[in-house]
Amino acid sequence: MSDLALAAADQQVISALRSNKVPLVKTFFDNTTFTATHVVHDPATREAAVVDSVMEYDPAAGRTAHHHAQEVVDYIRASDLKLQWLLETHVHADHLSAAPWIQEQLGGKLAIGADIVRVQDIFGKLFNAGTRFARNGSQFDHLFHDGETFMLGSIPAIALHVPGHTPADMAYVIGDAAFIGDTLFMPDYGTARADFPGGDARMLYRSIRRLLSLPEQTRLFLCHDYKAPGRDSFAWETTVGAERAHNVHVHEGVGEDEFVAMRTGRDATLSMPNLLMPSVQVNMRGGHLPEAEENGTRYIKIPIDRV
Ligand SMILES: [Fe+2]
Repeated sequence: MSDLALAAADQQVISALRSNKVPLVKTFFDNTTFTATHVVHDPATREAAVVDSVMEYDPAAGRTAHHHAQEVVDYIRASDLKLQWLLETHVHADHLSAAPWIQEQLGGKLAIGADIVRVQDIFGKLFNAGTRFARNGSQFDHLFHDGETFMLGSIPAIALHVPGHTPADMAYVIGDAAFIGDTLFMPDYGTARADFPGGDARMLYRSIRRLLSLPEQTRLFLCHDYKAPGRDSFAWETTVGAERAHNVHVHEGVGEDEFVAMRTGRDATLSMPNLLMPSVQVNMRGGHLPEAEENGTRYIKIPIDRV
């Protein structure tokens, strides 16, 4: 992407933010995977988007459940909202998406970043998914490109490509609220890891700097919280200003090389998420389980001594 395109995209973000439209956000936190699912809506038109939903999965039993997603559906129905979008910030590696399950009940368009095709290529090969697994993003209704604008009801919105955690991460700026996925976490916790296939700490730093160039009052909604030491409740909302001033990894003054050294060193100490294997196989398919085999049963694969 050229500097010019970047500038144009970011100008559109600024004009969306200046629209003075304030969407309402209700968050559902999943205590098992530490994931925040946000339901954002335009109070004027009652059109809504769900950002990053969760399907429960018990890896020992091989069982799925939809209690968390059911709460989201119940809230949308009870609040008389119309679901317009199911937005995924990226192919999550720590929880399974419930987006198709929610879509079956409430409609709406399922969307993710256009670079999903790169993630599908990487994991399609790793899991030897075969030709039945399309690697062109066709499991989604819409693929967003960097700087692409859309509307949530009457509220202007824009999608930003913010790679680093994965190559395809997106942030969605809707009115004065930005849903930034796994880039920044709460100021006292820091930033997302950058060591998954296709991840890049240097790219993550640049994406974060771009997000932190938004006006300081911009509300930021995060995908996860793990409670920083000394904090005893979960939190998922902060502001650009608070992150610039206090983020323990990337506050103002932290340079790119310093960040990359910290992030790379820390990532080397982290274990793989419990639900990595099932999450990736389901989420690369837009939240659908792998196709059933001849006996009618669906399976999750585990590559041995490979990753
Ligand atoms: Fe993630």
